[in-house]
Amino acid sequence: MESSEIKQLFNDAKAWVLEAGKEMRESVNKPYQINTKTDHKDLVTEVDQETEKFFAEHIRKKYPHHQVLGEEGFGDDVSSLDGVVWIIDPIDGTMNFVHQKRNFAISLGIYVEGEGVIGLIYDVMSDILYSAIKGEGAYKNDVALPSLQKGRKLEDSLLGMNNFWSLPNRRVDETGIHDLVRKVRGTRSYGSAALEFAFVAEGIMDAYLTMRLSPWDIAAGIVIVNEVGGLTSRVDGTDINMLEANTVLTCNPNIHKEIVSEFIREK
Ligand code: IPD
Ligand code: CA
Ligand code: CA
Ligand code: CA
Repeated sequence: MESSEIKQLFNDAKAWVLEAGKEMRESVNKPYQINTKTDHKDLVTEVDQETEKFFAEHIRKKYPHHQVLGEEGFGDDVSSLDGVVWIIDPIDGTMNFVHQKRNFAISLGIYVEGEGVIGLIYDVMSDILYSAIKGEGAYKNDVALPSLQKGRKLEDSLLGMNNFWSLPNRRVDETGIHDLVRKVRGTRSYGSAALEFAFVAEGIMDAYLTMRLSPWDIAAGIVIVNEVGGLTSRVDGTDINMLEANTVLTCNPNIHKEIVSEFIREK
């Protein structure tokens, strides 16, 4: 794809993200319907659905040959990454949206022939847009993000993770994770995978480790983290498959190998 076409895609995606975000800031204090999906912790609101519909409609109108992969089901049944695929999480951090009215994001990644070329993560209430085009660096609003700090040591790192790591796990030995928690300087849990990727890219957190994320949670984040020299893989170090759920480790490149080889022990 020509770089002028990518720029046009980026400009459209950015404009739609900002427009959807503005709408969301207005919705946050209005009454809206909240439903549950797989269990009582798995929330979805009218705002998630309306926002995904907004993207699907705009994309289909302007780019009818592109595919849309979205969390709430208003996209296509995507079974291959051929062509251009928009991978969208209309609200990443729905629980934060409902309970906190902040700390949630719109996450939008655009993949061309399977390769991530555009990433946008919009922290809606803070009005901060993290963005990247492959090969052109990553930005926080209009400010370029520097490459991740060289020589980062695990003992000086902040690790993003969630409470699932305190419970027994089918595949990964939790005692290895306990050793990792002891080794790092501290842990954080923000409740939005997309924002956690953005924080790794910004260098205010050094790693984010999680057991199961869907393509829409990570599609944008991977592009942004790549642009500052970060690494993303499954927790065993193998490649992410953007068509299915994955375990995920995204981090400063200096600590990737150590986390994978010394702390992730398979059961
Ligand atoms: C969730 C958030 C959360 C992560 C979950 C995701 P959602 O996304 O990113 O931080 O721990 O695994 O499902 O459902 O709020 O879009
Ligand atoms: Ca959800
Ligand atoms: Ca999500
Ligand atoms: Ca979501």
